[in-house]
Amino acid sequence: MSVRSSSFVRVLTLVGVLATFLLPATSADASAPLRTHAASRGKFIGAALATSPLSNETSYRNIAATEFNQVTAENAMKWDSTEPSQGQFNFSGADAIVNFATQNNQQVHGHTLVWHNQTPSWVQGLSATAMRTAMQNHISQVVGRYASNATVVSWDVVNEVFDDSGNLRTSFWYNTLGQSYIADAFRAARAADPDARLCINDYNTEGINAKSTAIYNLVSSLRQQNVPVDCVGFQSHLAIQYGFPGDFQQNLQRFAALGVQVRITELDVRIQTPRDATKDATQATYYRNVVNACLAVTACAGVTIWGFTDKYSWVPDTFPGQGAALIYDESYAQKPSYTAVHDALAGGTTTDPTPPTTPGTPSASSITSSSAALTWTASTDSGGSGLAGYDVYREQGATDQLLGQSTTNSISLTGLSASTQYQVYVRARDGAGNVSANSALATFTTTAGGGGPGGCTAVGTVQNQWNNGYVVQPVTVTNTGTSAITGWTVTLTLPAGHTLSGSWNAVVTVSGQTVTARNASYNGNLAPNASTTFGFQVSRPNGNTQTASGYTCA
Ligand code: XIL
Repeated sequence: MSVRSSSFVRVLTLVGVLATFLLPATSADASAPLRTHAASRGKFIGAALATSPLSNETSYRNIAATEFNQVTAENAMKWDSTEPSQGQFNFSGADAIVNFATQNNQQVHGHTLVWHNQTPSWVQGLSATAMRTAMQNHISQVVGRYASNATVVSWDVVNEVFDDSGNLRTSFWYNTLGQSYIADAFRAARAADPDARLCINDYNTEGINAKSTAIYNLVSSLRQQNVPVDCVGFQSHLAIQYGFPGDFQQNLQRFAALGVQVRITELDVRIQTPRDATKDATQATYYRNVVNACLAVTACAGVTIWGFTDKYSWVPDTFPGQGAALIYDESYAQKPSYTAVHDALAGGTTTDPTPPTTPGTPSASSITSSSAALTWTASTDSGGSGLAGYDVYREQGATDQLLGQSTTNSISLTGLSASTQYQVYVRARDGAGNVSANSALATFTTTAGGGGPGGCTAVGTVQNQWNNGYVVQPVTVTNTGTSAITGWTVTLTLPAGHTLSGSWNAVVTVSGQTVTARNASYNGNLAPNASTTFGFQVSRPNGNTQTASGYTCA
């Protein structure tokens, strides 16, 4: 397999070298499909394929064949497709995708062997002994079918085995077999194809959080027990309204340090429909960031997009009011997100030399002793890469201080000092990294705080969020008084329907929606101006975008 794929890369490299000689460099580069650029970077770029348009639509088939060098079956290899009733295997859909991939020199990632969804009810009702046997037989038959087929190189052996708090999901697998089903599944897959790369796959694990840490610990412990886990998949079903997980690359890197391959397995970036140019631009930035994170981590094998055209995407059916998550629109036109993926794979080359327009003068409101809200007239970006966001600075002579960043034309500044004059300005960034001129300055003065002896402030930062939860880390507690304190009490409010699912570095109690966090035994002593931190994680209703607020410190 490795011989085969490296000769494939060599052929592509040769094509690239010839193209450099035979064609004007810029046009050859710009028009090359995604897979050409990906291969020259040693990565795959893939798409999940659905069997029906693959057999019925020429446009779908052509793009699938020419743009990608890796494919995943969106549904055709799941248990309900391959073994709908016990012992009755049906590989028609799976074979159609594998044959297509073979014809087009693409690798197939097998998805998925053991999952709690799309598994027939006959499996779910089995006794423990019968269920373990059925699982091993299923893996042996499905993996075994493609074991000698060089196109199928890897498998998602288990999928989504954790919940968002980082506990093992109480699926029928876990409830019937206990945790051991995971190791058993990997061993069965290894026995069925000793050469296939075996992966564990999950969602909401892109950033460093309770769930990704649980997978990290499980993979580490399984490998210590010689359970054959070779790879970790990060689904990456992202949404622009929840922010980009800024520690994505760092997270990939910590898994790489365990010695496993990592891969982005199901990338899509949904928006609240309808589309507009600003949302498209933000979405493009997310795609670019994901591709760049994978490019920056040697152990990252590549990126699979969960479909490629908005015409066939699982998003609108699963997340009401959301969609347009992919890189081609419903009519197979390339979107800004396509350009972002293309340009990132092509080596960060950009066709956008134009910075965004200068933001309007910010206007300050809701000024307290430690916070203020700013809004300004939005910038526009005409260079093609789209507006990515704004940086808000405090003017302070030689080195201005970055107070915060926003993807919209407003921000709420926290952690400000009491009775202090601030002069602030905003500048805009586009997806290519071009920066606008600075806006004009706005001046405001914070109110007097309870800054006498014993006063303190608390500022919470949302580090990472997903559809139904978020992590606030750090909450920075600062002694703003003039003498040392030996303890602190922070209160904050959770929006209706939000519940605390974990906390660290504080003793936390909850009453209604009010959370009270007191210092732990080891972090209550703060000298004047000294700070300490704690953190917590919250579950919220699906689709809710609110976060905790109203931090007070005493
Ligand atoms: C989705 C498919 O895209 C849909 O067509 C199907 O109805 C449900 O499953 N995580 C996974 C994928 O691992 O298998 C899911 O795919 C999306 C979430």
